[in-house]
Amino acid sequence: MNTGFEQLLAGVPVLPVLVVEDAAAGVPLATALLVGGLPVIEVTLRTPAALDAIAAIRAALPQVIVGAGTVLNPDDACRAADAGARFAVSPGYAPALGAACAERRLPLLPGAATASEVMAVVNDGYSTVKFFPAEAAGGVATLRALAGPFAGVRFCPTGGVGAHNAGAYLAEPNVACVGGSWVAPAEAVRRRDWETIEGLARMAAALRRS
Ligand code: 3PG
Repeated sequence: MNTGFEQLLAGVPVLPVLVVEDAAAGVPLATALLVGGLPVIEVTLRTPAALDAIAAIRAALPQVIVGAGTVLNPDDACRAADAGARFAVSPGYAPALGAACAERRLPLLPGAATASEVMAVVNDGYSTVKFFPAEAAGGVATLRALAGPFAGVRFCPTGGVGAHNAGAYLAEPNVACVGGSWVAPAEAVRRRDWETIEGLARMAAALRRS
């Protein structure tokens, strides 16, 4: 169940999706996003440094709600929980993953892109769903189509979302937030250009649902 996920989000419009190559970059990166107005962040488990970065952020920045992204299986969920992740995000869904997260009391944002996939997560008790890959799966038009049969479901569109289209997604009533890597471009993280990232976060945090 992900009943706690929207409370963790606390109205924040954008969930930054982060790829951290160097664990030492985690805290300054999270600080830049926090100062820019984005206190809820997703560190993807796509690098060997990700779990150490999550642990360091959790220890150094209690105001930041750090979750683990790209959580693909029960083992990932356990490693994320052990590192101190406050929530987990998956590009898709598997019941075994949901069970592992529930066992560890880790709120899960499961991914879905089709009606059948949304039904699978809704039947397992989830009401907030990552719509992934948002742009490739039809973008705003698909979200509007899903709003009819899934009136109680709120989505976090991610994948191909950026400054150019985040506002259009956030204007949809069934969108809780959007996710994306655009607020922390890999090149800026590599350069340790925290000022640029803080500026991108500030612009993203100013996006509001109309
Ligand atoms: C994710 O894992 O959520 C996506 O890789 C983010 O997609 P983006 O890089 O297009 O924002």
